[in-house]
Amino acid sequence: TMADHLRKYESVFTLTPQRMRMIVEAFKDTLELGLQKPDQIVPMIPTFVFGFPTGQEQGDYLAVDLGGTNLRVCLVSIQGEGKFEITQSKYRLTEEQKQDDGQKLFDFCAECLKTFVDTNLADADAGHELQPGEMLPLGFTFSYPCLQSKIDHGELIRWTKGFGATNTEGRDVAEMFRQSLLKYNLPVVLTALINDTTGTLIASHYVNPKTRIACIFGTGCNAAYMERVGDIPKIKHLGIDDSAQMAINCEWGAFDSFEHEHLPRTKYDAIVDDTSNKPGEQSFEKLISGRYLGEILRLVICELIDEGVLFLGQNTYKLEVPYVFDTAFLSLMESDPTDELLMIIGIFSHFFAVETTLAERQFFRALAKLIGRRAARLSACGIAAIVSKMGYLDEGCAVGADGSLYNKYPGFADRIHEGLVDIFGEKGRNIVTYHAEDGSGVGSAIIAAMTKVRKDAGL
Ligand code: BG6
Ligand code: GLC
Repeated sequence: TMADHLRKYESVFTLTPQRMRMIVEAFKDTLELGLQKPDQIVPMIPTFVFGFPTGQEQGDYLAVDLGGTNLRVCLVSIQGEGKFEITQSKYRLTEEQKQDDGQKLFDFCAECLKTFVDTNLADADAGHELQPGEMLPLGFTFSYPCLQSKIDHGELIRWTKGFGATNTEGRDVAEMFRQSLLKYNLPVVLTALINDTTGTLIASHYVNPKTRIACIFGTGCNAAYMERVGDIPKIKHLGIDDSAQMAINCEWGAFDSFEHEHLPRTKYDAIVDDTSNKPGEQSFEKLISGRYLGEILRLVICELIDEGVLFLGQNTYKLEVPYVFDTAFLSLMESDPTDELLMIIGIFSHFFAVETTLAERQFFRALAKLIGRRAARLSACGIAAIVSKMGYLDEGCAVGADGSLYNKYPGFADRIHEGLVDIFGEKGRNIVTYHAEDGSGVGSAIIAAMTKVRKDAGL
């Protein structure tokens, strides 16, 4: 029966508290290693964002945000005391653009920015009226691992999240984007290249000073936090004051890549990995993020189709295409309020042209729950590793979080919190995640403002 099958999947997708604690220990060691030595699998990237904002930062800034579901252009006006206003437009990238030449990708970003500037900076009613000769500072949120030696440069280590644009890995993406900005004659100066996690860290601390960590749970999965420069041995040679604070972009999605020693990978995870454009890489992310969860569920369904358990006598070709099963379907299935699971009937009949029985629908919902819950509990392991390494548990801290999974998947945050209690016991309740409002846009604006203050001060 379906119930017997479910038990099998329960055992492979369930994480016990004990297993979680083992993952946390290995994770902590990996974070330390990344701070000690360059070129580690989890690169623990120094961002050259020095400390948290004072809250007094002000001004109008542009931001381009590339790396989530949408390409966004924002005009952010920060007004001090945790207040800001934002005007934004969203654009879609095609799959071809993600794989085509990198310079073309940045040209497209510049083109979108141009459209935005022409509509929103033409007169005071539309937003900010650009004065003749005025150049606006631009923050570029580029959410892929980049090695930085200063705030306005960054060499792309590798694409993640299915991107594969050519002639880009190993190059300075800020410089590439500057060339595109010139091409379109834009009245902007690119002053900061940041990661979405770093932006979220700064923006969420601006509105909630208890924030110590920021996470993205979206297409990808990653975290940033603030580290003491003296505790980043690999940058000792730069001679920065040990007591200074610098944000670290962990790039924790890469945890357990290649070696697969620590994470509970199932055979479905192994297939997702093998068939990706980057086999072996981003192991942690591939078990958690929105880009992959739907595909994991689809692979289980396909296995049961092959075994003759599901959809007997029906044509299932529509389900046999990689990545057709969107992670949003898991959210919908888990939140279906009806006894008959009408929403699940709709998903399968409308998108995949197959009929389902009630028992099958209950099974799909339970399976979504297993996969979604595992993702949230693994996320808790990552947060716990930072908390435990930094000693935040007793005092407690807030964790700013953003991304479609965190914002839209029912119960994702609750499951992270349960996971933290499984790892730390009652003290785990001291660690509270919350939705960080528009981290990337506001964060990059604040970072651009902080950068200006440092420049003016000759730092
Ligand atoms: C957005 C942030 O809200 O969330 C982006 O502004 C971030 O910078 C994104 O990359 C991540 O979520 P998703 O689900 O769009 O990948
Ligand atoms: C991927 C990227 C990382 C980003 C995360 C969330 O893991 O490598 O830079 O922060 O996705 O968008």
